[in-house]
Amino acid sequence: MSKTYKIGVMGGDGTGPEVVKEGLKVLGSVGKKYGLKYDLVNYDLGGERYKRTGETVPDSVLAELRLLDAIYLGAIGQPEVKPGILEKGILLRIRFELDQYINLRPVKLYPNVYSPLRDKGPADIDFVVIRENTGGIYTGHGGVTRENTQDEIATQLMVYDRRTVDRCLKYAFELKKKRNKQKAKYADKPIHLVHKRNVLTYCGDLWFRAFEEMGEKEYKELKRDYAHVDASTMWFVKNPEWFDVLVTENLFGDIITDLGAMIQGGMGIAAGGNINPEGVSMFEPIGGSAPKYTGQNVINPLAAICAGGMMLETLGETKAGQAIEQAVIKALESGKIKSLAAGKMGMGTTEVGDLIASLI
Ligand code: IPM
Ligand code: MN
Repeated sequence: MSKTYKIGVMGGDGTGPEVVKEGLKVLGSVGKKYGLKYDLVNYDLGGERYKRTGETVPDSVLAELRLLDAIYLGAIGQPEVKPGILEKGILLRIRFELDQYINLRPVKLYPNVYSPLRDKGPADIDFVVIRENTGGIYTGHGGVTRENTQDEIATQLMVYDRRTVDRCLKYAFELKKKRNKQKAKYADKPIHLVHKRNVLTYCGDLWFRAFEEMGEKEYKELKRDYAHVDASTMWFVKNPEWFDVLVTENLFGDIITDLGAMIQGGMGIAAGGNINPEGVSMFEPIGGSAPKYTGQNVINPLAAICAGGMMLETLGETKAGQAIEQAVIKALESGKIKSLAAGKMGMGTTEVGDLIASLI
């Protein structure tokens, strides 16, 4: 019995295509083993296309994306294009239009990985950040008046409605429930809401009340806690073992997951999912397009490979997804990959892909 998934592939900019190629290699070998087939559809979105045609995501492409089972993305962003055009025009447009309202970012230290938190091991760093992915400051409310004068005023508003908050919290509580069943050590820890409600008394209060209400009414068996976002950055470094599932609004989630990526060993290993639980989700290494390493076979494809694993898990192919993660763990344990940093792996991008594929 073999199942076919229709996957949109967007290598994108910079090193994106190189890491996606390795991810597809690994997805191919896990597919052979678990009887999965892929109908891959390539989309050449990104800086090159924009420079050539002025297009970011044409409406016709967006219509096609809606019909896929999932999207596998490398990176979007190019130094020659004015900041914001590709990010808003492609990445945020897809997130918003496909209503991928959850940004799921696991922070997990694998064996043999150098983390600046040297005394912490894989048992201490293993949590998931659920970043609300369609609201907040990212909605683009605001504007500018008296531009280019001394009296110029710019505003950028943090906007949240209860529905957007509730559906994100729901996903987080459900994930916490699932993880508590997986490992006793997860069940010992609370689910954390992260915000800044001592200052952001409107949005913070909305999130806090919604969190308390849903927790109390529907998930009474789950321990709950709250952390200010500034304090949580401190604890990511000092006591990462306190965390299991964290849920937070869009901008705070953006910021703390870069820190999360660092404590798990860097951008070379950090994967993320833009998830619409009822629709089409998109999976990506969270590191960006790394222009200076483009085309040199030095970039680390592990984050893209792990994003492929998340994609399969989200599609319901739990065993195949976990097989990818297990192969990554085995490769790291072997000590063959010298470092996660670009150019310091002791092997090339394609060799890392080959190694993981061979370990499936
Ligand atoms: C991320 C990125 C994006 C974001 C940028 C490129 C728009 O930093 O995926 O975390 O801010 O969400
Ligand atoms: Mn970011």
